[in-house]
Amino acid sequence: MLQGKRVVLRAIRRDDLPRLNQFNNDVAVELAGGGDPPIPQSLERLEAEFDSSAGNGGRDGTSFAIVVDGVFIGQCALFNHHPVARRMELGITIGDQAYWGQGYGREAVQLLVDYGFRHHNLNKVWLEVHARNERAIRAYRACGFVEEGRLRQHVWSDGSYDELVLMGLLRQDWQTGAVGANGTV
Ligand SMILES: CC(C)(COP(=O)(O)OP(=O)(O)OC[C@H]1O[C@@H](n2cnc3c(N)ncnc32)[C@H](O)[C@@H]1OP(=O)(O)O)[C@@H](O)C(=O)NCCC(=O)NCCS
Repeated sequence: MLQGKRVVLRAIRRDDLPRLNQFNNDVAVELAGGGDPPIPQSLERLEAEFDSSAGNGGRDGTSFAIVVDGVFIGQCALFNHHPVARRMELGITIGDQAYWGQGYGREAVQLLVDYGFRHHNLNKVWLEVHARNERAIRAYRACGFVEEGRLRQHVWSDGSYDELVLMGLLRQDWQTGAVGANGTV
């Protein structure tokens, strides 16, 4: 579990699933999060997927629940590990819109990149974001990510094309400090 000043990152639990299912069915959240067009998801399907994965045992990988004051507000992850280049991709969704724009996203991102550089010895964390997702871009910039390129008309979202922005943070530019003194994995 990773402990920040206000944000805790921990494993996603089965009792998070009803709220996660609400987030996954919120079109505004899905559009902001990018990726595929919004599609409905039943709680039964989400629980079946969780149970199937949990049934395999082992560890949970590098996906985390984002928790504020004991409330599950979203999830974030490092994925697409490239062991030779030592880079991973970052994804984050705060699914409860009431928690947007209050600095929780950047704290979660800082915790996650700190985890990646400190514990996985990564050299780079990178991400993709839609150009019109200004809130996300500002939060990523605040964490040290810089824009590395734009793919034109690369995304179809909410009825129009958008640019896909690539952002990256190098280990040499990483500033630690988000993790509290007792921050542990
Ligand atoms: C993107 C996300 C993780 C950011 O987390 P957050 O806690 O909302 O963001 P923060 O409060 O840390 O920072 C938000 C920044 O955007 C600004 N902002 C807030 N509302 C905004 C809005 N409607 N439009 C533009 N900028 C906005 C804030 O002022 C702040 O920038 P600043 O510090 O330069 O002033 C979160 O909003 C989220 O999960 N959104 C839905 C899914 C998503 O977009 N995922 C990212 C996909 S790449």
